[in-house]
Amino acid sequence: MIKGMIFDLDGVIVSTDDCHYLAWKRMADEEGIYFDREINERLRGVSRMDSLQIILERAAKPYTQTEKEAMAARKNDYYVALIQELTPADILPGAAETLAALRQKGVKMAIGSSSRNTPVILERIGLSTAFDAVADGNQITRSKPDPEVFLLAARLLGLAPAECLVVEDADAGVEAALAGGMKALGVGSAAANPSATYRAKSLAELKLETVLG
Ligand code: BG6
Ligand code: MG
Repeated sequence: MIKGMIFDLDGVIVSTDDCHYLAWKRMADEEGIYFDREINERLRGVSRMDSLQIILERAAKPYTQTEKEAMAARKNDYYVALIQELTPADILPGAAETLAALRQKGVKMAIGSSSRNTPVILERIGLSTAFDAVADGNQITRSKPDPEVFLLAARLLGLAPAECLVVEDADAGVEAALAGGMKALGVGSAAANPSATYRAKSLAELKLETVLG
């Protein structure tokens, strides 16, 4: 019996994919590092510093820790400027309807996101008060596929992991949910993930009764 649903934010609730891509692309271009949308796919669900490590696989020279921190901060400045433009229109199809249906059924809802920009994004899209709990990149030390952020979300909801279903668009996030003892619904880029407990193209296609048990 599922008593709580934990939603990843980027790529599940809101469309920020392009903002992340454009911000990393600008930073990589300035550094002369090759970066494309295929490499960008590998950054889904991965923390800012771990994402930078993946980008630096293509770098021609080594960077010091101080330089890396400056590069990650620069990308974040570009990203924060882009997400200022987000509005409720950027909420992904089916997300608002799913949250409303869960509220009506008395199922608890949380965010479980690696992003340290979660509070500002939720504010921009008008969902700051829509969730019973928010666990994000500001409260954790280990990035997905580690289950830390989802275990924290379940704890904040007052639920056992087995009572929770995680919704994820990242393979790393599906892995994290399962590692934490939760069920996982893969959507978007994770809609074909064979490890996911359930799969749907998007929340708009989800039949809630099939996943709530
Ligand atoms: C995840 C995104 O939600 O957050 C990743 O899928 C991103 O692409 C990560 O790197 C960290 O985000 P932020 O906003 O803290 O840089
Ligand atoms: Mg995501």
